[in-house]
Amino acid sequence: MARPLAKRFWRALPSASLIGALLISSVEAASPGARALYGSSRSNPAFLVAPDPNKSSRTIGWELGQEYFRPVPLTIPSAIVSGESTTRLIPEFLTWYSFPEVLRLLQLGSPLLRFTREDYRTGLSQAKLDQLLTWNDHLIGVLPSWSTSRYRQYLSQLDSLERVIGSNDFTRVLMNRTAVEHLLRQWLFSDHCLDRNGDDLDDVFWTPSQPCLTGEFPIGSAIAKLNWTPIQEYAPFVGYRTMESEFRASSLPNNAEWDSFSVQVAAPRADQIIVGSWLPGNRLGLTGVHFMLKNQKDWTWSSFWWSPENHSSLNQDQPVTFTRLFPQAPNYSQCTVTADQDSAHSQPTWCSNPYLEKGPGNIRTNCIGCHQFAGAHTSQSKILEQNHTRLIRQNFPSDYVWSYSDGSFSWVRQLLPVFELHPIERYPSTTVR
Ligand code: HEC
Repeated sequence: MARPLAKRFWRALPSASLIGALLISSVEAASPGARALYGSSRSNPAFLVAPDPNKSSRTIGWELGQEYFRPVPLTIPSAIVSGESTTRLIPEFLTWYSFPEVLRLLQLGSPLLRFTREDYRTGLSQAKLDQLLTWNDHLIGVLPSWSTSRYRQYLSQLDSLERVIGSNDFTRVLMNRTAVEHLLRQWLFSDHCLDRNGDDLDDVFWTPSQPCLTGEFPIGSAIAKLNWTPIQEYAPFVGYRTMESEFRASSLPNNAEWDSFSVQVAAPRADQIIVGSWLPGNRLGLTGVHFMLKNQKDWTWSSFWWSPENHSSLNQDQPVTFTRLFPQAPNYSQCTVTADQDSAHSQPTWCSNPYLEKGPGNIRTNCIGCHQFAGAHTSQSKILEQNHTRLIRQNFPSDYVWSYSDGSFSWVRQLLPVFELHPIERYPSTTVR
């Protein structure tokens, strides 16, 4: 199977003449200017990736938040902006990679760095991955569309913290370096995640387990999904009551929705919510962030959301180290699950984000119940109708990651134009399985 795959990849690489055309489409989305400022995203600290059964899931959640929200200093070079260098602090996870950036690496980085067929046949070595990601940090002056003068102009626009946060482009899904390395190692295989006949909601014991990826994400991979909400100074803002006692799954009807827990509040101030902006007058507040961290087979799931004061019991137990991390921290609540079942009470666990989990039944979920079906043929509404909170599958076609094959931002669908630059050999489904 290795030979035809290598052949297919090679045929999918852009020819030199196509690279110019691809520059236009791929560069903008992934912002080489922002990456030059951020530098390479770093890996997880060891304590996060070693699961500790003695810690409660809430403790794990705050520790994870402490790492991922940790303000990292970005220095805007002195020679460029009015003679003074400025340092701005932004949450670490905002420096992670978006899928368009991964796409640019595949489209442009690989051919320009002259990676060989063998590199892709066996999977990129760590040295090649490092080379590719370092190349990505230094695109100013390399890509024709990002000249030094354009970069200078870009930096001059970063004249406030809100603008620096906006440099992240409000991307919905972000991946840390370990997760990106996994994608780059085996992107060529990812179209196996489409056309998976028969692998549906009921096909939970499909054996032998055959992932559509070449393997699970490595330990230390982390992925975030974000929600930004427009803030208008005098317009009311939607907050949610998240008093734990009110909405534990057992006490809610099957079709309950977050909407019935909404409250209108005054627009939050910049010291109450993380704010980003890019276009003048367009300010967005970070109302929700999901994190999934691969530190065990079924991942650890943690979700943070903005809470108006006194409307949540899920920010009351913040350790002071989190509360003092950044000015808006006291307004963020979280829930975290490490398994589908609460070991002390053998009840299903609960974790749901009011800004991200919309629709009937979504308030009662626990992340794992839905994400276990990622990569299978099914719909979220069917999963929610059947009220899945238990881990029932034994096979995980895309290792719990929905974006591979599904959703409006499917990575495989974005990769298809790369595959389809030239006709691609498709494999009979029997060899794919
Ligand atoms: C009812 C199904 C459902 C539930 C429940 C759910 N998600 Fe997701 N999630 C999705 C889908 C579908 C996507 C694909 C991206 C998109 O289109 O939004 C996704 C995307 C994600 C991503 C980006 C990586 C990926 O898988 O694509 C993360 C991280 C994530 N969810 C975390 C969580 C966390 C944490 C929870 C629990 C608090 C949760 N999700 C609950 C359906 C669900």
